[in-house]
Amino acid sequence: MARPLKAIIDLEAIKINYQFSKKLHPTCKALAVVKSDAYGHGAVDVATYLDDDVDAFAVAAIEEALQLREADVTSPILLLEGVFEQNEWPLCEELGFWCVIENTTQLDGLLNAQSKIEKVFVKLDTGMHRLGLNSLQVEHVVDTLKASGLVEEVVLMTHFSCADDLSSLETIKQLTLFEEANRTVGHLTTSVANSAAIMKWSVPEGGWIRPGIMLYGISPFVGVTGTQLGLKPAMQLVSKVISVRDVNIGDTVGYSQQYTAEHPHQIATVAVGYGDGYPRSSENGTPVALSGDTAELAGRVSMDMITVKLSNQASSERPHQERKIQLGEEVELWGEQVPVEEVAYRSGTIGYELVTRMTQRPMREYKTTKEQS
Ligand SMILES: Cc1ncc(COP(=O)(O)O)c(C=O)c1O
Repeated sequence: MARPLKAIIDLEAIKINYQFSKKLHPTCKALAVVKSDAYGHGAVDVATYLDDDVDAFAVAAIEEALQLREADVTSPILLLEGVFEQNEWPLCEELGFWCVIENTTQLDGLLNAQSKIEKVFVKLDTGMHRLGLNSLQVEHVVDTLKASGLVEEVVLMTHFSCADDLSSLETIKQLTLFEEANRTVGHLTTSVANSAAIMKWSVPEGGWIRPGIMLYGISPFVGVTGTQLGLKPAMQLVSKVISVRDVNIGDTVGYSQQYTAEHPHQIATVAVGYGDGYPRSSENGTPVALSGDTAELAGRVSMDMITVKLSNQASSERPHQERKIQLGEEVELWGEQVPVEEVAYRSGTIGYELVTRMTQRPMREYKTTKEQS
């Protein structure tokens, strides 16, 4: 018997979430962001499935774009961090990659290479202070690109630092700077919105939105799940119970005795651990679903295993004393029943990190919702 842990990825859910993002901005086109192996969902599988339905993809850098082309993905692909080395320019021309230019060295590189690039996204730094040009540089870069004859279209882009915080004024400030700069350069097509902005902020219409985390059905906002936002979770991480034992009052469980039983109950050991990407920082009480019943982490996460107990069901119709955990029972670590956002919250991180940092160890199984019906 193989280790029973697997990540089941619903490709149709990703397509539905992409279409959802476009319905929110019907005048915009959308770059499906599949960087970092499609946030851990498998970039080749995701992009192959979405290829006929997307306007374009976005990745961080050329290696990720090459991987998609090698898998016969034909849609345009934007390199969000642009080109790092001079020899990338001819490849971008040959393979139809669009590029961000976020510094003047990249501009000089393109002019030296004389490569023809269909779309260049010029990035304005409106306050993130991570990548991007200032307003004066943007004017120079846009004018130079237009005069170069190398580029069919120049798009003006920026990235928000706080779009996930609806109480912050920073997004308005960034948008104001962006709109000022766009007036100066003569009203280019724009691209500003990540998932949080797509779902909750008023952003310029008619340009390119850049949905990332929402494609995977995960919320960018603290305290709200993707499902609550109308998204469909795309990854279900499932495993099985591989051992069951009784513990008595005062018995401790796992490394460092992190959990102590306060009443007699069963402990189920489940095949998943930090070696698979399940966060070691998860606290006692982090939810899991045990054959659909509510259960929770009890004891420290090990490399290959976690220990769980049924949550206190004393007030429910079925007291926990009556429910015996069986070897081989299905466990959902996150998915439809257990929001990944909640596991992330209980582990001091965000849903983005949990799915993206999954290791290669869990088997991937791809399905489409359509196939099920
Ligand atoms: C420039 C840029 N645009 C869009 C995205 C997608 O963001 P999100 O996953 O929050 O939708 C990212 C992700 O980090 C990004 O770096």
